Amino acid sequence: MKQLSVAHLLGIKYLIKNDIDLIFETANHFKEVINRPIKKVPSLRDITIANLFFENSTRTKLSFELAEKRLSADVINFSASQSSVKKGETLIDTVNNILSMKVDIVVMRHASVGAGVFLSKHVDAKIINAGDGTHEHPTQALLDSYSIKEKLGTVKGKKIVIIGDILHSRVALSNIYALQLQGAKVKVCGPTTLIPRYITSLGVEVETNLKKALEWCDVANVLRVQHERMDIKYFPSTREYTQLFGINQQILDNLGKKIVIMHPGPINRGVEITSEVADSHDSIILNQVENGVAVRMAVIYLLAQQIKR
Ligand code: CP
Repeated sequence: MKQLSVAHLLGIKYLIKNDIDLIFETANHFKEVINRPIKKVPSLRDITIANLFFENSTRTKLSFELAEKRLSADVINFSASQSSVKKGETLIDTVNNILSMKVDIVVMRHASVGAGVFLSKHVDAKIINAGDGTHEHPTQALLDSYSIKEKLGTVKGKKIVIIGDILHSRVALSNIYALQLQGAKVKVCGPTTLIPRYITSLGVEVETNLKKALEWCDVANVLRVQHERMDIKYFPSTREYTQLFGINQQILDNLGKKIVIMHPGPINRGVEITSEVADSHDSIILNQVENGVAVRMAVIYLLAQQIKR
C-alpha cells in the first residue's frame, strides 16, 4: 500500500509531489463516499483524534470534525478559550493531559509559528497542523489545489494569483509551496506593505497592479486583510484598499476572459470581494469548503495507516 513520505502533516514545505498525488487519489475516493446516502466508512473505528484549537476557526474545525466522524474515529474537541489554558497551563502540559486519554492523532491550530513542529518533537501522536500563526495552513492549500484540479483538470501550468494580505497569511505560503510542487506559476498581488520581502526568493513574482494580475491569471485566490494580526496601519483606509485591490464584477467583465475565483474564508464581503463575485458562477468558494472534508479525510486516513495497532 502507498504511504506518505512524512510522519505528520506539519506543512506543505515537508511534502513531495507524490504525497500530494496520493492525498488527492485518496480524497477522490472519499469524495465519492461523502456523496453516498450513507456518508460514513468504518476505517478508523479504533482511532481517537483530538482537535485542539488555540485560535478561532469555523471552517477548519468543523471540516476536520466531520472528516473524522465520516471515518468513524472517536473525536474530542478542545477550544483554548474555554479551557485551563486561561489558568496558565503550558501547551505541553495541556497536550500531554489530553494524550494520556489515549489519543492517536492531534489536529492543532495555534497562534505561534512552528507550534506543530514543536509538538511533534515532544508528544507521541500524529500531528496535523490546522494553521500555525502566519506560517502554514497545509490542509487549506491541499483543498485549494484539489479544487483547482477539479475545476480545470490540472494544476500543472496554470497561472494562479494570490491577492491581498500575503504578509500575515498562512494560506498564501502553503498555497505557494503546494502550487509550485505541482508545476503551477504563482504571482502575488497586494499593497507592497502587505507583501513580505522574501517572497521573490520563493520564485514568486510580485504584481501590484490588480488589473494586470487578473489579466495574467487563470485563477485568483482572494485573501482577507488580517486586521487581528496587525499592530500598525499597513494602508491608509479600507476604502482605498477596496478601490485598489477589491474584486468586483466590473473588473472581471472588462478582462474579456473567464477566471476562477477562490477564497479560503472568512470573507469580508464588500472589502476584498463583492458579494456579486463571491456568489457568482465563476466562484468555487463553496466547492473549496465541500472538498475540504474529503481532503482532510484523506490526510487523516493516510497518517492513521502509519499507526501500529
Ligand atoms: N479557511 C480557514 O482557515 O477558515 P477558518 O479560520 O474559519 O478555519
